[in-house]
Amino acid sequence: MNRQLLYRSGQLYEFTASDMIRLLLQSREDNARRGVGGMLALRDGLFMQLLEGPAEVVDALFSRIAADPRHCEVRLLVRGERAEPLLPGWRMAWAEAPLGEGETATFAGLDTDRRALVLLERAGDDPVARTLRAFLHGEPVPPGGLVPAAAGGWR
Ligand SMILES: Cc1cc2nc3c(=O)[nH]c(=O)nc-3n(C[C@H](O)[C@H](O)[C@H](O)COP(=O)(O)O)c2cc1C
Repeated sequence: MNRQLLYRSGQLYEFTASDMIRLLLQSREDNARRGVGGMLALRDGLFMQLLEGPAEVVDALFSRIAADPRHCEVRLLVRGERAEPLLPGWRMAWAEAPLGEGETATFAGLDTDRRALVLLERAGDDPVARTLRAFLHGEPVPPGGLVPAAAGGWR
């Protein structure tokens, strides 16, 4: 089983494009070494990050990330298990919203990994996928993340 962990936080440090690219490249390299993957999403100065991988590695990484002074108000939304990763092969996909036509990315040279978004769409009712999609669309996300609609959930 894979640990699946989803949190959100507020961006504190004013990342330049090269800061953000460096953070992402470094994270991808470190995550690949540790067998961790997921997605880092940004919308309106808020981050949402999905971490997936071996339980103890993901938990230790989250403790490090939560202590990182570049963001604040880190709120854990989901900490669960999943047989297969939601984003297999992605060492840290990047997504920035709004995703509308013609809107320019905040960080020049850092394009949203649209193939990872396709995987989120295909995951349908999966609660973590729904929560990430809601975040990227600017919809409210309750403290525990979204639950499957079939379970009589939030939406
Ligand atoms: C929003 C955000 C997301 C991050 N995601 C990762 C990540 O996926 N993997 C990673 O190794 N470090 C990530 N980091 C960086 C870690 O917080 C930390 O700086 C890095 O693991 C190096 O830790 P160390 O200085 O203790 O070696 C992230 C930092 C921030 C602010």
